[in-house]
Amino acid sequence: MTDIKTIFETMDYGPAPEARGEVDAWLQSHNRKFNLFIGGRWVAPGKKKYFESREPATNEPLAQFAEASKADVDKAVSAAREALPQWVAMGGHARARFLYALARQIQKHSRLFSVLESLDNGKPIRESRDIDIPLVARHFYHHAGWAQVMETELADYKEVGVVGQIIPWNFPLLMLAWKIAPALAMGNTLILKPAEYTSATAILFGEICERVGLPPGVVNIVTGFGKTGEAIVNHKDVDKIAFTGSTEVGRIIRKATSGTGKKLSLELGGKSPFIVFEDADLDSVVEGLVDAIWFNQGQVCCAGSRLLVQESVQETLIAKTKARMEKLRIGDPLDKGVDMGPVVDPVQLKRITELVTLGEKEGATLWQAEHSVPKNGCFFPPTLFTDVSPAATIAQEEIFGPVLVAMSFRTPGEAVKLANNTRYGLAASVWTENVNLALDIAPKIKAGTIWVNCTNVFDAASGFGGYRESGFGREGGREGLFEYMKPKWEDNLGPLKKADAPKAAKAKGDASFSLPAVDRTAKMYIGGKQKRPDGGYSTPVLGADGRVMGEVSKGNRKDIRNAVEAAHKAAGWTGATAHNRAQVIYYIAENLIARADEFAGRIAGATGKDHAAAQTELDLCIRRIYTYAAMADKYDGRVHHTPLRNVTLAMPEPIGVMGIICPDEIGLLGFISTVIPALAMGNRVVAIPSENYPLTATDFYQVLETSDVPGGALNIVTGPREELAGVLARHDDVDAVWYFGEQAGCRMVEEASAENMKRTWTCSKGLDWHNPRIGEGEHFLRRATQIKNIWVPYGE
Ligand code: NAI
Repeated sequence: MTDIKTIFETMDYGPAPEARGEVDAWLQSHNRKFNLFIGGRWVAPGKKKYFESREPATNEPLAQFAEASKADVDKAVSAAREALPQWVAMGGHARARFLYALARQIQKHSRLFSVLESLDNGKPIRESRDIDIPLVARHFYHHAGWAQVMETELADYKEVGVVGQIIPWNFPLLMLAWKIAPALAMGNTLILKPAEYTSATAILFGEICERVGLPPGVVNIVTGFGKTGEAIVNHKDVDKIAFTGSTEVGRIIRKATSGTGKKLSLELGGKSPFIVFEDADLDSVVEGLVDAIWFNQGQVCCAGSRLLVQESVQETLIAKTKARMEKLRIGDPLDKGVDMGPVVDPVQLKRITELVTLGEKEGATLWQAEHSVPKNGCFFPPTLFTDVSPAATIAQEEIFGPVLVAMSFRTPGEAVKLANNTRYGLAASVWTENVNLALDIAPKIKAGTIWVNCTNVFDAASGFGGYRESGFGREGGREGLFEYMKPKWEDNLGPLKKADAPKAAKAKGDASFSLPAVDRTAKMYIGGKQKRPDGGYSTPVLGADGRVMGEVSKGNRKDIRNAVEAAHKAAGWTGATAHNRAQVIYYIAENLIARADEFAGRIAGATGKDHAAAQTELDLCIRRIYTYAAMADKYDGRVHHTPLRNVTLAMPEPIGVMGIICPDEIGLLGFISTVIPALAMGNRVVAIPSENYPLTATDFYQVLETSDVPGGALNIVTGPREELAGVLARHDDVDAVWYFGEQAGCRMVEEASAENMKRTWTCSKGLDWHNPRIGEGEHFLRRATQIKNIWVPYGE
């Protein structure tokens, strides 16, 4: 027993353990062995296989969970499919009632959930009780609201169908809520697989679903390892996959779903910068750092794991940080006074240890407080690395542990460069008392979330998700709903249409083809100039009457590379104001109107349409350009009402350099419909026009030249479409690819995109480009942008 005098002198906290009796009783009532939740019943796995899950704090066994086989996953998918029509038919209000009931039940059982979560995952009870579980309830409430208003607010959309969801172990119940709440709200049914280290709270959630009388099969929970996840991903009757976890597995899933038409959202790793300017309030910064990298033992995808500090305050901040690290309390996660518990599993402990050893080997300076870290269990002390080179492994790789690496910068420009020196782009936090500086930096950082003078704050009303290799799609907020809906017209799409005219004469050979006297050969359009093709070849283009109408250049890999390079140089287009972009796009329309006759003639010649029909098509092109000029400054962001003394600015930003493989079955209208919305949103584009009708695109060069489109903002490479599409899809400096065409092409594009996690939009169905509901509108703009959420302090 410590006497009062010693307590007074050390001011040390005594242990304040949270009771675990209720959780043990619940586990015991199931003999610490759990089955699968399929079709509203608890069923034993077909192969009778179970695996053990341990408490990371003690390495003692917690419980056994069923290992779902492929056959079990089949059953779960069938149950979800069967439940779908009724779940959809009951409508938004009924679904809202269920989501609301789930939220209430989670609140009522919040202590049971938090203690179970802390035992299973190792996170301190303070976090599970005050952060994870309240946010879980908040997610269900928020999305109950979206279910209620879906039919009015999102009237043109419907559910995607049966959804497969795979989640990690760092926020087990919270990730479940992020996945399940929006999916159910929008009318989907689902199969969810928790991570193998942390299945317990998902099982308890299954019981809550039973308790509120959720119709059987709407939610199915299958436990297991990566193999079980794989069976969900590869299942033919699953319409969408939502995954959170490592970039490595995200890549596997991107490839596995290629060409299947499955919708996909990926929330992957990060190496987020925590940027401190010299005028920041350093004491707040230190508390921010605790939340950034020692929250949840650093096992946070958006952990502020790279401290970038302005040189003038580096020494002071590091000293303050070390002093604070000395005070962090590490130990039993059920102790209410503990700041850090164990990491989730010995496998993760080993991984962290190896990376830290490598960090030292690579020359960085290691510092750890002189804590007593419990010997049993998966504990790792809070760790700080200084003298880190930006290229060092620990500065580039996600460590996923309580390890902070510090680097310094001199100017804001240098800070941005360092911040963006990563393949990831999940989040960043910016610390400065100068609002101008914070809001100058925020748009320059390539990340999905920017926290100004705060960090690791989340809310159901704000979208969360990555740029670059941190994945794509958003969870939370209005923007997150689109992951679980599709436009109603998508169900009525027929097969891909055939072109009206014969394919270009490429089948008969290249320029050796004997030609009558025709127009000059169209070059390509790269960097604002007409360029000869690298290969020096061209291809004749036939008109509807089978006669040669002209020739186009045959682009190759080198031409695509040049075009991408030119697009990168044209950053001014992205930086231009929306008003300026609108003016340029109106000007394009104006110049097209001036040459209307000539273009209509081209359309008539290429398609065999009469002049009036060609004129109508051209008129549609002009209207469409007007639409996007109009929308350039009207496709706004939102201000989300997030709690915690913040407002959150949801800003649609251009994706960057986009490759667009235009529809092949239609000429100018397909080109305009896809390229102009991307340009309007501030992207720079490399377009491959229809191989059947390339001449309207090559004629378009002159329209561009007279319309003030800056060189490199739009580049056009003609030639063998599938081959060029492959080059674009594999190019590491292309951020997004749209592809309209055969399924094989869709698969190729999606598979190749996995390397740098490009955003893709592929469609192998027949889109009616003439129909303005389908061929134009917000769904193009949404895909041409990604939302950055900027959390700004606001109010009391
Ligand atoms: P992981 O990506 O393997 O696991 C996440 C989930 O995916 C689990 O449910 C797992 O069973 C499942 N899974 C694994 N292989 C699969 C496959 N081929 N198909 C479908 N599902 C599959 O992550 P892991 O191995 O647990 O952690 C390794 C590293 O990944 C961590 O050290 C960390 O760097 C990173 N990670 C990042 C997370 C994030 O939120 N960004 C979360 C978890 C891990």
